[in-house]
Amino acid sequence: MESIFKRTHMCGQLRAGDIGKDVVLNGWVAKRRDLGGLIFCDIRDKTGITQVVFDDKIPKELFEKADSLRSEYVVGVKGKVRERESANPDLPTGDVEIFANDLILYAKSETPPIYIKDDDKVDMNLRLKYRYLDLRKKKMQDNLAFRGKVCKIARDYFYENGFTEVETPDLQKPTPEGSRDYLVPSRVQKGCFYSLPQSPQLFKQLLMVGGTDRYIQIARCFRDEDLRADRQPEFTQIDMEMSFIDEDDIIAVNEGFLKMLFKETMNIDIQIPLPRMKWDEAMTRYGSDKPDTRFGFELHDLAQMDIIRNTEFKVFADALAGGGSVRGICITDGADKYSRKQIDKMTDHIKSFGAKGMVWIKKTADGITSSVNKFFDEEMLSQIAAEFEAGDNDLILIVADKPKVVFDSLGYLRRAIADEMGLLDPEVFNMLWVVDFPLFEYSEEEQRYVAEHHPFTHPNIEDIDKLEEHPELCHARAYDIVINGVEAGGGSIRIHDKDLQDKMFKVLGMDDRTIEEKFGFLVEAFKYGAPPHGGLAYGLDRLVMLMLGEETIRDVIAFPKNQAAQCMVSGAPGPAAEEDLDELGIELEKQE
Ligand code: AMO
Repeated sequence: MESIFKRTHMCGQLRAGDIGKDVVLNGWVAKRRDLGGLIFCDIRDKTGITQVVFDDKIPKELFEKADSLRSEYVVGVKGKVRERESANPDLPTGDVEIFANDLILYAKSETPPIYIKDDDKVDMNLRLKYRYLDLRKKKMQDNLAFRGKVCKIARDYFYENGFTEVETPDLQKPTPEGSRDYLVPSRVQKGCFYSLPQSPQLFKQLLMVGGTDRYIQIARCFRDEDLRADRQPEFTQIDMEMSFIDEDDIIAVNEGFLKMLFKETMNIDIQIPLPRMKWDEAMTRYGSDKPDTRFGFELHDLAQMDIIRNTEFKVFADALAGGGSVRGICITDGADKYSRKQIDKMTDHIKSFGAKGMVWIKKTADGITSSVNKFFDEEMLSQIAAEFEAGDNDLILIVADKPKVVFDSLGYLRRAIADEMGLLDPEVFNMLWVVDFPLFEYSEEEQRYVAEHHPFTHPNIEDIDKLEEHPELCHARAYDIVINGVEAGGGSIRIHDKDLQDKMFKVLGMDDRTIEEKFGFLVEAFKYGAPPHGGLAYGLDRLVMLMLGEETIRDVIAFPKNQAAQCMVSGAPGPAAEEDLDELGIELEKQE
C-alpha cells in the first residue's frame, strides 16, 4: 500500500487539453454530493478545485471509502481526466472532471467551525481563531503568494542596484521616543530590559557608518500602539538606507522599485517621476499629510472673506480670534444625498477629532439653505457658495476650530464621503510624494518640541539658521510615499554632522544625560566619520493591502493579531510560569 500518492497536477490546473490523461491530485474535500451510485467530490488545494467522480462500478471497498468522505478530509485521488457533462463556467477547471480509480485517505476532519469560501461573512475573530482553516481559502493563499512575490521583487530590485541585505538585532536597547516599546526582560542582567525594535532605524545608520553603503532588509518591527485597520503591533518593513546621496537619489531609486513592482505583479505602468507635494500644500488643499488625490472636494480657507471675518456668529469669530481657522469642503451633488440626520451623524463623528460642530450649506435649484440661517442671509450664503464655485445640488461643510482640528475633520470627511459616494476606485493607484514636513511638532503635554520623524532627521539646508530661534518654521528633508490616501512608506535624509546634531538635541530639550541614555551609541559612532546618508521604509503589509485592494492589513498577514493585540490561534500573550518570573527577578502585582 502506498503511503502517499505522488501528485501529477495541482487542483486548479487541469483543462480540456488534459482530457484522457491519467492524473493524481492531492487536497482537501471541499464538497461531496451523493447522487446514488455516483459520488461527486470537489478536491481543493491552494490553486483551486477539481471535480472528482466515483461510480459504483469501482471496487466496492473503494466506493465505500469515497462514500465516507466528508468536508475537509485530506485525500489523494488517481483517475482519468474526462470531459464534464455539464461544464461549470465559474471554475477554471470547469470543463473537466476526474473519473477516479483509486483513493487514499490521509486524514479525517471534524466538521470545520468556519466555511471555507472566499466570500463568506464569518466574524473576524472566528477567522483568526481558526486561521489555518481560513488560510485554505484561495483568496488567502493568493494574498500570501502575492506578498511573497513583493518581497522577492524587492530583493531582486535592490540587489540589482547594489544593495545588500543585512539583519539588525531584534533585542535592542529601549529608546523612549516614538511609540511604546515591547519590552523583554533580561535573565542575565536582572532588572534590565531589551526592547523589540520599532524599526531598524539606528542600526541601519550604524551600517552606513560601517561602510555598508546600500542596505536593505525585510524587517520585523514592533510597536505597542492602538490598533487600526492598517496597524498591527508587529508588522514588516521593506527598509533601505544609502550613503553619499540626497533626497532625489532616494526618491529615484524607490520610484524605480515601485515601477518594477507594479509592472511585474499587476502589469501596471506607473508614470515616473511621481508628483511631489509639499506638506503645507497637502494640508491646506486636502487636510491631510496623506492626501488622496483621486477626487476633488478640496479644502477652502474662508478666513479671507469679509463676511466671515466680520461675522457675529460666535463659532467662527471665536475660532479666528483664537488663532484658529474656518475652512470647508464642497461635496458635488451632495445636497440631495445627505439628510440632516446623516449630517448630524458626520458631526458626531468629527467630534472625535476635537471638533465642536459643523456648519452645512445646501445649494439647490430652489435656493440656498443652511444650519446658520440666523447669522447668514441668502446673499451671504450665496457669497460663500460662490467661494466654493458650488453648483446646484452641492453640499458645503464648514468647520471652525484650531487648525489641526479643522484639518483632521475635513480631511476625514472628504475621504469618508468620497468612499460613500463610490468615488474611490481601488483599481486606480494614485501615488505621490509628500515632502517638506515640519521638522518639529510642539507637544502640549511635554511642553517642548518633539521631532516629527525622529531626532536624526536633517533640517532643510535653508532652515538650519532658524533652528534655535524659530524651530516652528523649520522643515525636514523627509518624504512619505502616499498611495490612495495611505502612507505606504516614509523616510528622510539624516544628520551626519555632529555640531548640527548637537543643535538638534538642544532644540528638543535633551540634556547630555538623556542623549547618552537614548542614543549614546549612535552619537559615539558619529564621532568616527559618518557619511551623508538617508533612507526610507515601506510598510510591507500596507503596500500589499493597497495593491490587492484589501481593507485591512490582516488580510495580507498569515497570523495577525486581533483588536486587543492577541494571537487568536495560540492565545498569546499568556501568563508566564512562576519559576521563569523568579529567574528574571520579576514579581507581579496581585491582579484584583
Ligand atoms: P515610519 O515610522 O514612518 O518610519 O514607518 C515606515 C512605514 O511603516 C508602516 N507602519 C506600520 N504598518 C503597520 N502597522 C504599524 N503599526 C505601522 N507603523 C508604521 C507605514 C510607515 O510608512 N525608520 C523609519 C523609516 C526611515 O526613516 O527610513 C520608520 O520606521 O507604512
